[in-house]
Amino acid sequence: MSNGYILVKQSLNLNGQVNLVGAKNAVLPIMAALILTQGKSILHNVPNSADVNQMITLLKTLGAQIIFDAKKNYLQVDTSTINNFEVKPEIMNKMRASILVMGPLLARFAKAKVAMPGGCLIGTRPIDLHLKGFERIGVSIEQDSHFFNAKLSTNSKIKTEKRIVLQYPSVGATENLAMLAVLYPGETTIVNSALEPEVLDFLDVLKKMGAKIKLQAPSIIRISGVNKLKPIEHKIIPDRLEAGALLLAAAITGGKIYLPDACHDHMDIFLEKLKEMGHKIEIKNGIKLKATKNPKAVDFKTGPYPGFPTDLQAPMMAAQCLTNGISHIEETVFENRLMHAKELEKMGAQIQIDGNKAIINGVEQLYGAEVIATDIRASCALVLAGLVAQGETKVLGINHWRRGYDKFENKLVVLGANVLAKQD
Ligand code: UD1
Repeated sequence: MSNGYILVKQSLNLNGQVNLVGAKNAVLPIMAALILTQGKSILHNVPNSADVNQMITLLKTLGAQIIFDAKKNYLQVDTSTINNFEVKPEIMNKMRASILVMGPLLARFAKAKVAMPGGCLIGTRPIDLHLKGFERIGVSIEQDSHFFNAKLSTNSKIKTEKRIVLQYPSVGATENLAMLAVLYPGETTIVNSALEPEVLDFLDVLKKMGAKIKLQAPSIIRISGVNKLKPIEHKIIPDRLEAGALLLAAAITGGKIYLPDACHDHMDIFLEKLKEMGHKIEIKNGIKLKATKNPKAVDFKTGPYPGFPTDLQAPMMAAQCLTNGISHIEETVFENRLMHAKELEKMGAQIQIDGNKAIINGVEQLYGAEVIATDIRASCALVLAGLVAQGETKVLGINHWRRGYDKFENKLVVLGANVLAKQD
């Protein structure tokens, strides 16, 4: 863990208007998908987060030529020079999303050699659904102590329909399998696929490249393989997770906020829960929130889209700590994603954990403390709690904050918060 930290002083009644960056969870698979093309692609609205920079490093090791203007959120990737299909452990283990290059490398080279991916400590996070799906399409995979060696089998050009049934609608597996299928001969059907807004943005990019993709209710993706895909220009969708965090920052501090570029239809259940708490939400040219001074406790359970997003569970828990009543939270997406509860308790929150469930007894006041962020969204939860806590909160684990957000502290400062990020 880095020695950097975020210092938060009590900052009530945040108020103002903020623009959103592009969604990290859309840009990462879209960057991986560029491997499917040969030429220069341009992405707009790209967040300058550590994970995006890590994906840039990964693509460069494959041979891509990249220009990233972080101030303008402009990314240009030339994939015509990609000549390598191997990704070493020191690159792969920096983030889970590195695994997303496996599908496009297989599509481009008919082989891929990648190490096991890393990521947040929020559960075992296997990649079995990715691997089983690849095997179903016709890939043979051998694993040694460091690498997965994957090859398209010799009869892989046979044009039979491949039907992949995901036992869980995994976001990453859906994207990875789609990236192989778009350049694979014949039809591929992915049943029980993930259809998060970020996955839809990614599928839109594949279609812009020339891929033949159809969606069928309730969650089936049908892909007809084509021979070649072309480079694209694309603007990444606004980050609904940054939007959620900003709405909660205003809600928790008793303030007001306007997010002109937020897409309300990407966050329906979350907005319903904010309304149930008593906050006033207006959907007009974006999203406006005016906080209630007396928030009610609400229960929720995370789930694949359109369920309550697991990535907003931790920030929402911070808000539940200060409600008038008892709230129940159930985390169903990741097996170990309640570690922030212990840290919130250091600040005076009353939380009982039972497996993947949390029961939160609302308290009147939180108090500043030194706390540790264990994953990206936990870092957000602790900063939000720090905004209302009496005194000063020191959030260690700034590396997580930097992985998921693009200088989010500056946006809080614009709203009137006293937040300072101190790098090593
Ligand atoms: C993506 C998001 C992450 C979000 C998550 C769920 C990106 C870059 N990250 O992560 O922010 O929290 O979706 O919305 O888009 N699983 C398996 N086997 C697999 C794959 C997944 O068991 O092969 C399990 C995971 O361990 C987890 C659940 O399925 O418990 C959901 O994972 P998945 O949807 O794949 O999440 P990611 O794509 O890693």
